Amino acid sequence: MPTTAATKPSPLEALGVGPVNSGASTGRRLDTKGPELASVNPSTGEAIAKVRQATRADYETVAAEAARAFEAWRMTPAPRRGEIVRQLGEELRRDKDALGRLVSLEAGKILSEGLGEVQEMIDVCDFAVGLSRQLYGLTMHSERALHRMYEQWHPLGPIGIVTAFNFPVAVWAWNAAIAAVCGDTMIWKPSSKTPLTAVAVQSICDRVSERNGVSGVFNLVIGRGADVGEAMLADRRIPLVSATGSCRMGRRIAQVVGERLGRTLLELGGNNAVIVLDDADLDLALRAVLFGAVGTAGQRCTTTRRLILEKGIAKEFTGRLLKAYGQIRIGDPLDEGTLMGPLIDGDAVKEMMAALETVKKEGGRILCGGRTVDRPGFFVEPTIVRAEKDLAIAKDETFAPILYVYEVNDLDEAIALHNDVPQGLSSSIFTTNLISSETFLSHRGSDCGIANVNIGTSGAEIGGAFGGEKETGGGRESGSDSWKLYMRRQTNTVNWGKDLPLAQGVKFDL
Ligand code: UN1
Repeated sequence: MPTTAATKPSPLEALGVGPVNSGASTGRRLDTKGPELASVNPSTGEAIAKVRQATRADYETVAAEAARAFEAWRMTPAPRRGEIVRQLGEELRRDKDALGRLVSLEAGKILSEGLGEVQEMIDVCDFAVGLSRQLYGLTMHSERALHRMYEQWHPLGPIGIVTAFNFPVAVWAWNAAIAAVCGDTMIWKPSSKTPLTAVAVQSICDRVSERNGVSGVFNLVIGRGADVGEAMLADRRIPLVSATGSCRMGRRIAQVVGERLGRTLLELGGNNAVIVLDDADLDLALRAVLFGAVGTAGQRCTTTRRLILEKGIAKEFTGRLLKAYGQIRIGDPLDEGTLMGPLIDGDAVKEMMAALETVKKEGGRILCGGRTVDRPGFFVEPTIVRAEKDLAIAKDETFAPILYVYEVNDLDEAIALHNDVPQGLSSSIFTTNLISSETFLSHRGSDCGIANVNIGTSGAEIGGAFGGEKETGGGRESGSDSWKLYMRRQTNTVNWGKDLPLAQGVKFDL
């Protein structure tokens, strides 16, 4: 029977998002008791829908359920856990368009990036499915005869996942897909700026969980940091808190979780630079810098914030970049052809404008942009600043599309300037010279967790370990062997002989 327009669910309803939503789920939505929170469309400044936030008591219910579910989940064979993650990936494939649109609507990123974010979720689910049959431990040769020594990896427990507004769903998936195959249950605390995408993803998880007869593996609490956030940090049942956000937030998490000697996995601020040498392919570099600096309106932790140009190409490259900035279409992220959407909220606009005031005071020169856009929502112009080495504001991460451009004499000067910031997430060099690129990748080159050649700073694939050094926090999420952070390592030595030789030749006989 054909469905009429009146009975057809809206895309939001199809994703399990209603006008007012519960802010917590353990597989079944809780009747949360906290104050209402409106999700605001940053393109218009208007509310999309509301969430009733979780209270500390609601957190308790969720945490108890996550702890209970861990008992059974850890004993479920890893490939069987992988099968559930496989089904999650399948559901995400089916819902990619609707969820990608919701990401664009709520977080303000252009549709292609909204869809890309869901693709990133699908990719990490695929990765985790394979991983579920590869949680390998090493074996070693014992120094003692008739002894076997090896290590194995055990599930860790119910873990906490704190995510930021700018990748409201993908970064959850990096953690969740890996943690799930590792045998951990989890409690997700998303950003209060993007609650609806979290509700939608949780409802997909709930569907998959129910179909497979599991509950309490994927759990959600949306609430204030001071309530549910602090409760999670202090909760001794949570052996690991994996968090993405500002350095300020990371310090608080490290402090509270560290105090109880829990583990943290931190992915904090970046201040990523691209170096362009005289011998670079400038066409490639231009496209990469444009995407890196303007993509997601400068709100990725991998955003290109600094551009370090060798003097031979500095003038030409800056000129070409300014021309390209003049052609960027700013507007509704859901309109085809838009390249840059809004900032997330009014505070973000204020912070950008305040940073630009500081730029002027410190002697930086605004080459283009620098203003807000006169329309509803939180739109700003992408901005290029000519900077000298002593421009202090450029050492901060301002979560906005400000690109600081420097000129240097050679590679050594470029690397020194590159590393002279407190953060260490992503980095890149554009060069066709092998010695220059290898120098950049060497021990005396980039000090970042990610270092690329002829590729920009943002847009990493899920297969690599993602994270950075210094104030970025040292954590690694997603691919490679990051899974080890979600498990506990156990060294086992088995004696299958009839003697009890002690290690290091120690004698201890009666
Ligand atoms: C983030 O901004 O927190 O590498 C994550 C990238 C994306 C992930 C960014 N794959 O830009």
